[in-house]
Amino acid sequence: MSFLGFGRTQLPFDMFDLERSASEARRGEKLASLYHRGQSLAWDGREVLADLLTRHGGIRLGGRERQALQRVFAMILWGELAAWKISAQLADRLEPLEAKLAATSQAHDEARHFYVMVDYLRVLGYEPSPIDRPARAVLDLVLETDDVAKKLVGMQLQIETLALTIFQAVRESNVEPVLCDLLRYYEKDEARHVGLGIQYLPSLVKRMTPARALSMLSFQLRIIGLVMWELKALEPELEVLGLDARKILFLGKAKQLGAYEALWAQAGGPPPQRDYVSHAIDGIGEWMFATPENRGSLRRRLVAALRIARTGRAVAPEEIAA
Ligand SMILES: [Fe+2]
Ligand SMILES: [Fe+2]
Repeated sequence: MSFLGFGRTQLPFDMFDLERSASEARRGEKLASLYHRGQSLAWDGREVLADLLTRHGGIRLGGRERQALQRVFAMILWGELAAWKISAQLADRLEPLEAKLAATSQAHDEARHFYVMVDYLRVLGYEPSPIDRPARAVLDLVLETDDVAKKLVGMQLQIETLALTIFQAVRESNVEPVLCDLLRYYEKDEARHVGLGIQYLPSLVKRMTPARALSMLSFQLRIIGLVMWELKALEPELEVLGLDARKILFLGKAKQLGAYEALWAQAGGPPPQRDYVSHAIDGIGEWMFATPENRGSLRRRLVAALRIARTGRAVAPEEIAA
């Protein structure tokens, strides 16, 4: 507590005293550029949505598709609010100036994503209501943790990459032109947010004790489990929209792994337990989202899941690049 300038202060007067390696200084420059690029690329959500609605003659969608889109994008809507809150928490908590700038820029983007999604869903006829438990649990997990590294991994590397995967799949399905065009704007912003995690996390990861690294891994696994559960719950709606939950899972996983490897490459080493964890996720994914040929037979499904858990699922290079 502070009294008349005595005692503890909320201002980090020593924030410029931190010793930095050359690579940390380089990453600092990249973090600052995320903020400056965010500023020059900021778009006016009201203008963009109004233009798209005019250009495409409003939203024309059948009842079933409309309902499915409402359910999937309700999750995105509340995810955007969570992202806004989490990036505001990070903007307050992160200490190096450049990381603070990048998180602040993200909070500005997420505020725009949230209000534009509110406006879009209103036109679609969505009445705001609570979302599924697994989706809620993931967002609460990241909102509630006090560990900045976990917050960054959960938000920037896991939730953002999943959102990017869903946005890309929806955009490619061309299910609703206004939304598909709108998502291009979202995707550019979200890619910068992944950059905050990749550029700042190595400094935290390098100083992590094995116990903390293990706790981080268990945190990530909880998120992955909940995400798989949520994807399973949304499978029927995704199908109505012409989207394949299995493809989203494996594509999202490949993107997450790519971001995770980029992080560890910056930290100077391979990710811990990489293959073991990756194969286990592949196996569970294969079981939960079996191919149409294996879906009808428990035995075939189990054999495929166990084989993939042992050897890993081959991911095509274009999937990772996508
Ligand atoms: Fe967002
Ligand atoms: Fe984001």
